[in-house]
Amino acid sequence: MTGPLLETRNVTKHFPLSRSLTQFFGGEARLAIHAVDGVSVQVAAGETLGLIGESGSGKTTLGWLMARLHSATSGEVLFEGQDVSQLSGAPLRRWRQNLQVVFQDPVGSLDPRQRVWQIVSEPIQAQHNFSKAKLRTLVAELLPTVGLPPDCLDQYPHEFSGGGRQRLSLARALSLKPKLVVLDEPTSALDVAVQAQILNRLVSLQREFGFSYVLITHNVAAVRFVADRVAVMYLGKVAEVGPVRDVLEHPVHPYTKALLAAVPVADTRRRRTRYKISGEVPTLIRPPPGCRFAARCPFVIDRCRVEEPLLLPLVGASNHVVACHRAAEVADVAPESLLVTVPPPTTAAA
Ligand SMILES: Nc1ncnc2c1ncn2[C@@H]1O[C@H](COP(=O)(O)OP(=O)(O)OP(=O)(O)O)[C@@H](O)[C@H]1O
Ligand SMILES: [Mg+2]
Repeated sequence: MTGPLLETRNVTKHFPLSRSLTQFFGGEARLAIHAVDGVSVQVAAGETLGLIGESGSGKTTLGWLMARLHSATSGEVLFEGQDVSQLSGAPLRRWRQNLQVVFQDPVGSLDPRQRVWQIVSEPIQAQHNFSKAKLRTLVAELLPTVGLPPDCLDQYPHEFSGGGRQRLSLARALSLKPKLVVLDEPTSALDVAVQAQILNRLVSLQREFGFSYVLITHNVAAVRFVADRVAVMYLGKVAEVGPVRDVLEHPVHPYTKALLAAVPVADTRRRRTRYKISGEVPTLIRPPPGCRFAARCPFVIDRCRVEEPLLLPLVGASNHVVACHRAAEVADVAPESLLVTVPPPTTAAA
């Protein structure tokens, strides 16, 4: 196969508002939240694509579109060249085997009444009619690959730490050796040492089995460590995509520059952030025409407010693409000029 393993083509997800909310916002036709708006990204076989962006930028919605957990409002999701919305019956079951999702919250995504062998073998049971003994053997073999002991088959999720539960989710997702795993903030609920162990494990499993990952995260260090390429999302659109080193070391889009400079620590709950991006985030119900970052961008020109910038390659770098009318002019601008300082927190609770 020469094309990408997974590709979204101009994919869009709008969540319609209720009639009463539509009226509240003064809408006549039914209004919708434009969570993902015309996103085209590709994931190659064996590659990790990082997906970063502020809260609400559409990362999870895009991950769910990729996994067909949401149906697209328009556009396509192709897996090995095939439109996944067209799959049904046996081809759909085969495809499900190849794309798994690991969710942020291992507590919510694991059934507390099920034992480890049942939880981890769930995808296998959906595909095969194996005996209980065979399922237990398979799970016992799988557990050490995610760093869990093989003798915990009969334990329940509550008997594990947060990191242990996330390893169970990972074992479940990997149980059928999928081609692609969408990891939605897989380590953000865990402490830093456990995060590192799990990220290491993801990397070594990828080397061994050739998995592709889509890693959705706020943790730029995790992206640097795990991902090959990174896509930066802002208000339902991709602002910049490229090889990790290029995007993280030489961000070009003013939003990427600001985002990277404003999040110096992985754990946003600690509120150590010294900077924030100035300006208000526009609403996703009536997204502005033109560039969605225009209202917050110090480099804005009239054109940005009316003409949507396309994702275009930078001169001399065909795989680093940026959606900014002024990409060439702002490429070398220091990110601090895009930020305002936030006073340090006053309570010890931080
Ligand atoms: N099922 C839904 N119904 C209505 N609106 C939704 C739904 N899911 C997401 N949204 C909205 O779509 C937008 C994008 O949400 P999404 O969860 O994809 O963002 P995100 O980038 O994953 O954010 P975070 O970093 O906080 O996880 C948000 O405005 C959110 O409120
Ligand atoms: Mg999310």
